[in-house]
Amino acid sequence: MITPVRRNWSPKEMFNALTPAMFSAEPSVVRARWNKLWPDLYTEYDARHLKTELSVRNLITTDEARAFFTVWAADEERHTDGFIRIIELVANGSERNLRERLEARPHDFGAINDHLADEFSVMVMIAFDEMCTCHAYAAEKPFYTELRNDIFHHWLREVIADEAVHSMNAVNVIRARYRDRVGEIGAMLNRIVSGIDDLSYAGTFLLDYFGVVYTKELLDKCRVAILRNVEKPLPAIERDRWSHRPN
Ligand SMILES: [Fe+2]
Ligand SMILES: [Fe+2]
Repeated sequence: MITPVRRNWSPKEMFNALTPAMFSAEPSVVRARWNKLWPDLYTEYDARHLKTELSVRNLITTDEARAFFTVWAADEERHTDGFIRIIELVANGSERNLRERLEARPHDFGAINDHLADEFSVMVMIAFDEMCTCHAYAAEKPFYTELRNDIFHHWLREVIADEAVHSMNAVNVIRARYRDRVGEIGAMLNRIVSGIDDLSYAGTFLLDYFGVVYTKELLDKCRVAILRNVEKPLPAIERDRWSHRPN
């Protein structure tokens, strides 16, 4: 069986040396930082609700997908922890208050029923969504530059790399288990990209394409990248390496 890649880093250690006093600013600046970071935080946090929903609907059927979601959920929790710490540092937040707000948010998975048909459709959606997140974070570099501390660039590099790995791990599940269905992916992604204007986010982790960075061009670039990646054969060398890696 293939096993997913997981990168090793810790936002807690990364932000250890920083304090809120280092990033004090005018109330309007703090408010703007909050407005930008809060959706980043809650979309990461919503991963746990997606994971629960997949299990309630009994959608995950293969060992490869199960392994994928275990590693993925741990990473998204790591991103959640990172954004909480950043909001504490630069936007006057407190972990307790943020976690209460996160818990109070509603979730409506009926909004993405079409993408929850079976494990294959979930994996296609995740592969695409993670690629979009990866590109969207990359477009947010100027925000972190404004904070004038290189640790935030380091954070961004780690998060971007994690999101790229998530997409790759999902593609590898597709390549390992659903080679016979690769021909369906183009039409599935076309439907997502063309329906983008009618979307409203319902706390589902998937399809969180709001904010200025999610342009049609970005989504299209990701669609093309996924179509290219799923066509690649699973390299024998990697397959061997993974099959010998302990879980
Ligand atoms: Fe994430
Ligand atoms: Fe992710």
